[in-house]
Amino acid sequence: MTMATGFVALNASKQHQLNKSFDSGPITTIIGRQTIEYEHPTMFRRLKDCHNVEDLRLLAKQRLPGPIFHYIDGAADDEITYQRNTSAFDDCDLVPNVLAGVEEVDMSVTVMGQRLDLPIFCSPTALQRLFHHDGERAVARAAEKFGTMFGISALGTVSLAEIGEMISTPKMFQFYFHKDRALNDAMVQRAQAAGFNTLALTVDTITGGNRERDLYTGFTSPPRLTLKSLFSFATHPSWAMNYFFREAFELAELKDFVQQGSNVAVSIGDYFAEMLDPTMNWSDAEALRAQWGGPFCLKGIMSVADARKAVDIGADAIMVSNHGGRQLDGSRSPFDQISEIADAVGDDIDIILDGGVRRGTHVLKAIAAGAKACSGGRMYLYSLAAGGQPGVERALQNLKTEIERDMRLLGVSNISQLNREMLRHR
Ligand code: FNR
Ligand code: LAC
Repeated sequence: MTMATGFVALNASKQHQLNKSFDSGPITTIIGRQTIEYEHPTMFRRLKDCHNVEDLRLLAKQRLPGPIFHYIDGAADDEITYQRNTSAFDDCDLVPNVLAGVEEVDMSVTVMGQRLDLPIFCSPTALQRLFHHDGERAVARAAEKFGTMFGISALGTVSLAEIGEMISTPKMFQFYFHKDRALNDAMVQRAQAAGFNTLALTVDTITGGNRERDLYTGFTSPPRLTLKSLFSFATHPSWAMNYFFREAFELAELKDFVQQGSNVAVSIGDYFAEMLDPTMNWSDAEALRAQWGGPFCLKGIMSVADARKAVDIGADAIMVSNHGGRQLDGSRSPFDQISEIADAVGDDIDIILDGGVRRGTHVLKAIAAGAKACSGGRMYLYSLAAGGQPGVERALQNLKTEIERDMRLLGVSNISQLNREMLRHR
């Protein structure tokens, strides 16, 4: 009988029941204080068998060396916030209307002045060429195909210039406020020159979160070659061949300014603590907005008070986010917090729910509660690791199909028809 406990249980107990007939026997993993018993996917799992985020997660787990998989999959401390980010959606039910004539469904949204064909976009995430050799190129092309926004991290592994030439759909550059002001200026200028449409300043990484899985696995960027990591690379030869024999790994926008992350192995926590500026405050955010001069967003706002300040400094959007549970464990989930924030500033600023989204219904609940759009990281990162660009396309197609079907079942043909009347909190 399948049983799942601890952080890997996120959506897993249900999914493992479904996968039972394809599985090849239970295994037990001990990570940190947690013991996880679950059924291992068959070695023959393929992209075309992946019908949801959890399927793609299991395929990513199969394809990636342990330290890299756990860097993506893990979060801070006891990972309570990480779990809650998704389970919060289960505490709220949808109340559908019928006989609504829903032959045509329009799921487009406009956020930060960008029209998106999907109500969910790809949050910026670091180090993507570690997950698949095509990295950001694969995610950018897949996002373009689905007409949604591609967010690239300041810790990206493909240059802004290359992405700017590659895709013509909306692009977000995520900015980390470094101590090195020359680096900060160069990043803004490069994003402008590359035609990025929006800038997101991440505000929830003033220091590193306590990612215990990374402590156990010894994860660093670039990966440090130890006996343990070499063993995990050797047992994933196709990942290792791609990593060692293709284009050298680097942090494309940072390598001219700092060695750490590209040539000197560091943990992400140490990178945040050493390189980012802990004095960052509201005046810095306001000055960055002015320097950028285009649609500007604060990523990692959780309180109503901060949402109001974001309006005051002239931000166009906030991403209500706890960084996917990777920073302050015990903080509230974006979905639990979205209505309060929408009530306070929903008319003044675009609200994006970031994190925890694994299903089409999650997107619809978030928007009904007051978000303008959603964004997510792991929902496409597992699929990037599982299958490069076709993998990311698979993930976005699965979500699109779900959103379209669920809108019909809910009795809405346009995203603007979603409202709180359709929600009941348990
Ligand atoms: C992230 N996230 C992130 N955020 C950011 O502002 N800059 C970054 O470089 C990264 N890097 C990063 C790497 C990985 C592996 C993950 C999983 C996440 C956070 C990301 O943008 C987003 O806020 C979360 O991923 C949202 O939670 P979900 O959708 O993964 O549940
Ligand atoms: C992370 C970073 C890099 O969450 O934001 O790992």
